[in-house]
Amino acid sequence: MIHSRIAGLGRYVPEGVLTNADLERMVATSDQWIVDRTGIRERHVAAPHETTSTLALRAARIALGRARLEPEDLDLVIASTTTPDGLFPSVASLVQDGLGARRAGAFDVNAACMGFMSALATATQFIGAGSARRVLVIGAEVLSRIVNWEDRGTCVLFGDGAGALVLEASAFGGPLSFVLHSDGARAKQLYAEGPCGPRDGDGNGPSECYIHMDGPAIFKFAVHAMTEAVRETLASARLGPGDIDLLVPHQANLRIIQGVAKALGLPPERAMVNVQKYGNTSSASIPMALCEAAEEGRLDEGARVALCGFGGGLAWGSMLLEWSTTGVAPEGGGTRGVLAPAHRGGE
Ligand code: ACO
Repeated sequence: MIHSRIAGLGRYVPEGVLTNADLERMVATSDQWIVDRTGIRERHVAAPHETTSTLALRAARIALGRARLEPEDLDLVIASTTTPDGLFPSVASLVQDGLGARRAGAFDVNAACMGFMSALATATQFIGAGSARRVLVIGAEVLSRIVNWEDRGTCVLFGDGAGALVLEASAFGGPLSFVLHSDGARAKQLYAEGPCGPRDGDGNGPSECYIHMDGPAIFKFAVHAMTEAVRETLASARLGPGDIDLLVPHQANLRIIQGVAKALGLPPERAMVNVQKYGNTSSASIPMALCEAAEEGRLDEGARVALCGFGGGLAWGSMLLEWSTTGVAPEGGGTRGVLAPAHRGGE
């Protein structure tokens, strides 16, 4: 198995900011309710001319620049999104063209908020099998386009943004430890219909494609599912929760993040939190949080980082990685890392 390393990370959010005070003027809500129940204070919203692929392209250029690579160096582009510009072509193809990554193949992955980890896991397998040496992995969303702005139960939660990383084959490190789970029987707890859904007897399809969810059920599920997924990846690396230096969870709700940290016995400061600034950006949230953690210098040499996420599907999972900046020039050092289980326990 060939090892994988993160050569560069990037993130981008649109300029438009929607605060809780703005939402108070749109629906029957309050800043205090939103902050108390979710931790969210503001979120970014795409301008009319922006799309998932334009946000993704911005984040991708930053990641590529930090990796000091040219677009032609890429073998593959994988984009994760639930809000593609259209049903096809893929966002990945649009980014591949926008970058001028002429050698790269491209496809999208959709696993709702779990999409980025599914895309990253896929990238590690391409590299591990020797089928690709450098893969651009993107999570990007314009959730503002599928939010019902009259539904206070959902519209306060979501935001737009993009995160990207370049994964490259490495001579050191080790194979990733990750788990991906799904329970499609719970699909109706969190869903958004699309234009290709079933028709009624008159041939009419869904009149809207808004996000629908059973918030309290998802809340309970999220805390338990992410906690157990992290335990699984730790167990496969023969580690315990105390070995985690930084937890980078899907940024859906501050209380969910705190619940997972508490269930794992981690102090709150060991969990990366930026949900207050961006809301839930679905598949963009984990790469944006990982990128911001690196920019803030929270990823020291050898730091063990546990990613975990959940979302529509229902789908959930976790990935364990070890951060290393060995041999990386200082100005890029904060956003490069080696993906590897921290300890293979004699394997
Ligand atoms: N402002 C004010 N009041 C509100 C709002 C709002 N924005 N939204 C709901 N309420 C009211 C409800 O109507 C209810 O009122 P009632 O008691 O009079 O009936 C009350 O607040 C409590 O509602 P709950 O839904 O029980 O509140 P809860 O504490 O569960 O918080 C929340 C709701 C924030 C949605 C929470 O359940 C949650 O975060 N769930 C997880 C959501 C999530 O993470 N989704 C992931 C999506 S990921 C993807 O794949 C897209």
